Amino acid sequence: MTDTLDPKITAAPANAGSDETVTRPAQPGSAVGQRSALQPPALKRRVPKVADLAPLMQFKKPEFSKTARLKRASTIWELRDIAKRRTPQAPFDYTDGAAEEEITLRRARQAFQDIEFRPGILRDVSTIDLRTDILGKESRLPFGIAPTGFTRMMQSEGEYAGSQAAEAAGIPYTLSTMGTASIEDVATAAPNGRNWFQLYLWTDRARSLELIERAAKAGNDTLMVTVDTAVAGARLRDVRNGMTIPPALTLKTVLDASYRPAWWFNFLTHEPLTFASLSRYTGTVADLINSMFDPTLTYEDLDWLRETWKGKLVVKGIQTVEDARKVVDHGADGIILSNHGGRQLDRAPIPFHLLPEVTAALKADNSKAPVMLDTGIMSGADIVAALALGADFALIGRAYLYGLMAGGREGVDRTIQILEKDMTRTMALLGVSKVADLNPDHVRLLQR
Ligand SMILES: Cc1cc2nc3c(=O)[nH]c(=O)nc-3n(C[C@H](O)[C@H](O)[C@H](O)COP(=O)(O)O)c2cc1C
Repeated sequence: MTDTLDPKITAAPANAGSDETVTRPAQPGSAVGQRSALQPPALKRRVPKVADLAPLMQFKKPEFSKTARLKRASTIWELRDIAKRRTPQAPFDYTDGAAEEEITLRRARQAFQDIEFRPGILRDVSTIDLRTDILGKESRLPFGIAPTGFTRMMQSEGEYAGSQAAEAAGIPYTLSTMGTASIEDVATAAPNGRNWFQLYLWTDRARSLELIERAAKAGNDTLMVTVDTAVAGARLRDVRNGMTIPPALTLKTVLDASYRPAWWFNFLTHEPLTFASLSRYTGTVADLINSMFDPTLTYEDLDWLRETWKGKLVVKGIQTVEDARKVVDHGADGIILSNHGGRQLDRAPIPFHLLPEVTAALKADNSKAPVMLDTGIMSGADIVAALALGADFALIGRAYLYGLMAGGREGVDRTIQILEKDMTRTMALLGVSKVADLNPDHVRLLQR
C-alpha cells in the first residue's frame, strides 16, 4: 500500500500577519503542492490575555517536609536517592553494596528487566485483589520484609519501623539474628503483626536453641534459616569505607556528619547500637560472621532444626534445583530462592532465572511447599513477573531499607505503597485481577 497525499492542502497565507488562512488545491506534480504537503498547517498567533492565564496558574506553597519529599517519590529508585542524601556513606554503602564486583546484584536486577509482559485485553480489572496465602495465613500483599542485620544503623527507627509498617500493611516482617532490636521488643512494637524470625545457626547450639525458644514464645509462627552464609562475602565497599560496628568516629565520619546532621542526631540520642540477639561486639561485619557462624553446617543440622522448631520452617538461600528438592525432602515447609541480595557469592545463580526450573521440579515431586524469592526487586512489576513465573511470595530487602533511610517509618510505608501501586497497575494492564490468575503465559523471557 502506498501513501497518498490529500490534494486539498492548507497553505501558508499569502497575506502573512493576517488571521486568515487560505485553502487552495495543489496542482498534481507542482512544486508548490509538494512543498506545502510537508509543511504544518499555519497556526494563528495572538496576544495572551490575563484571563487565559488564570486557570493555568496553580502555584502551590513549596513543601520541604520529610513527608512531602517521600510523597513525591514514586519509585524505589527515587527513595534510594533520598536515602543516599540523608545517610552517611558507610551505612548507605553497607546497605546498597554487594559482594566483590557486585555482578550478582546487577544481574539480578537486570533479570527483571529482561522480560516482556504479555497482556490480555477486554478483561474486567475494576478491582485488583493482591491478597495471597503464605505458610497457612493470609497476607494482604504477596510480599514481605526480608531479614536485614544491623537495621538501626541505617536509620535509628530500624526494626521498629520495619515491623510496624509491615503490621499496618498486613504483610509478614522478618527479624534477623543480627537485628538491632530484640525478638521481644519487636513483638511488643508490632503486637498484631505477623513476625517471622531469621536464624543463623551458629557453633554454640545451646544459644541457637535459646533464640528459637524465645522466637516461639514471642509468637513468631515461622522460622527462616539462612544457609548461604558459611563464611562472609567480600563486601568491598565496607572494606574501603573501613566500616565497623559500631561506626567509628574518624575524621571522615565527623566530616560526613556535617552533611547529615539528622542521622547523627538520631544516632547519638537513641539506644546505643548493639546486636540484640548476640553478645556485645565490636569489629567488622565480616569478622563477626566469620567468628560466629558455623562453616561445618550440614543437612543433619537442618534435621535437628526441623525436630526442634514446631512452627513453619523455611530455608533461605536456595540456589540450585537439587537443593530445593532436598530441603523439602528434609521437611522444610517452604523455600526461599535467594543469593542474599548478591552479598555473599558473586556470580551466583539469579533467583528469578532459577524460578521456572525449581517450581517445575517441586511440582513433579508433588510438593506443596511454597517457593519464595528475593534479590533484585525494585518495583511492583518485578514482583508481578516473579509471581507469574511461579513464585508464591516475594521478599524485599533493600527496597524497604531505602525507604527506611529516606524517612524512617514513613519511608517504609512509602516503599510498601509504591510497590502496591505498581503491582495494582501492572496487573490491571495485564488484564489480571487476582494473584492466583497470574501464570507463565503473562511473561516472555527475552534473550540477551
Ligand atoms: C543491609 C542488609 C543486611 C542483610 N542482613 C541479612 C541477615 O541478617 N540475614 C539474612 O538472612 N539476610 C540478610 N540480608 C539479605 C536479605 O534478607 C535479602 O536476601 C536481600 O536483601 C534481598 O535482596 P534485595 O536487597 O535486592 O531485595 C541482608 C541484606 C541487606 C541489604
